[in-house]
Amino acid sequence: MNLETHLNRFFERDWLLAIEALLPSIHEVDRIAVRIWFRFFPLELFRFLESAEDKDTAIFSLAIQGKYCLKDQIDSSHDFLYGHRYWRVVKSAIESKSESFNDDVVDLAGLIKRVADEVAKSARTDGSLTIAISAVGLMTLVQVGLDDFKAASGEIVKPKGIMAKSPGQIVAERAKDDSQGLFGFLKTVDKKFSVTYSENDPKGRFAIMSDQEIASASAKDRSQNWKAKDERCWEGVVPVECLSASCGTCWVGVIAGQEKLSEVAPRERRQMKVFGYNQPDDAKPILRLACQARASGNATIVVPPWNGVFGKKVYGNVEEVELEPVTSSAKALREVVREAASAGSDEN
Ligand code: FES
Repeated sequence: MNLETHLNRFFERDWLLAIEALLPSIHEVDRIAVRIWFRFFPLELFRFLESAEDKDTAIFSLAIQGKYCLKDQIDSSHDFLYGHRYWRVVKSAIESKSESFNDDVVDLAGLIKRVADEVAKSARTDGSLTIAISAVGLMTLVQVGLDDFKAASGEIVKPKGIMAKSPGQIVAERAKDDSQGLFGFLKTVDKKFSVTYSENDPKGRFAIMSDQEIASASAKDRSQNWKAKDERCWEGVVPVECLSASCGTCWVGVIAGQEKLSEVAPRERRQMKVFGYNQPDDAKPILRLACQARASGNATIVVPPWNGVFGKKVYGNVEEVELEPVTSSAKALREVVREAASAGSDEN
């Protein structure tokens, strides 16, 4: 049996459980980032689309917008992980394992760890820094196939800004809040913080007022032509449509500062299931809708390159759904959400 065949026996749930089991061994710098990555590229959605008779119709029916396909971003999908810098080594370790795989390690977590140990040895670094990127590499192999995996150049984004610091320094930077000035401790309102959306870019952050939603703070950032970079971005780095938890466009991963964001309200919780985004159950989880999450301190986010509404079709995941009139021009998107809503009420 080759490595790809072996890995194809596992379901998304197996991968998430393997990551959870490995978390204590993963350095804090990538502990949350890797959980986010696995939710940005869900295996069951990939398999649903691969098995569709007409993939374009399936994509349309799930209102998918943006770069959802790992094949188009083999070398870059993980550039928000510290371990991204070891990507070339990970890639070559997985390629050589594909050629000489024997299935004596059937356990997924054990296999990830074995690759990570080899990478750490070759890169002369600590094993805690290579587990996350090794897991990402193995899942990438599953979703792109060995030929495309090998064909990718392996080029990485050179670490800059906060990402150029040591793992411990990065963790410490993420925990800081912006200074409120000499008498800031007296302020009860008008506190200003920052949301970092790219740790590789010293300018990759926007200002946010205390209690402001991430999406509305992002919309005020006119520093770049966001639409030229991502068609979904009308204003700001976070794509938005409805601003009312109705469309799922604004989902983001929260790498740090979850505890400084407002708690998830029942509506956001329900809608995340409809969208299919696999938000963990915690009161302050690692996936949020940016139009709902209000800040009371600095946060570090990562914007996924796509959005869609697939909870019903991929996971059978529909609960009671509230729909509100939306200002969006995305007619297809609204129809998909409405369809999910009516399925929910049929089942209740
Ligand atoms: S913008 Fe539609 S859910 Fe946030």
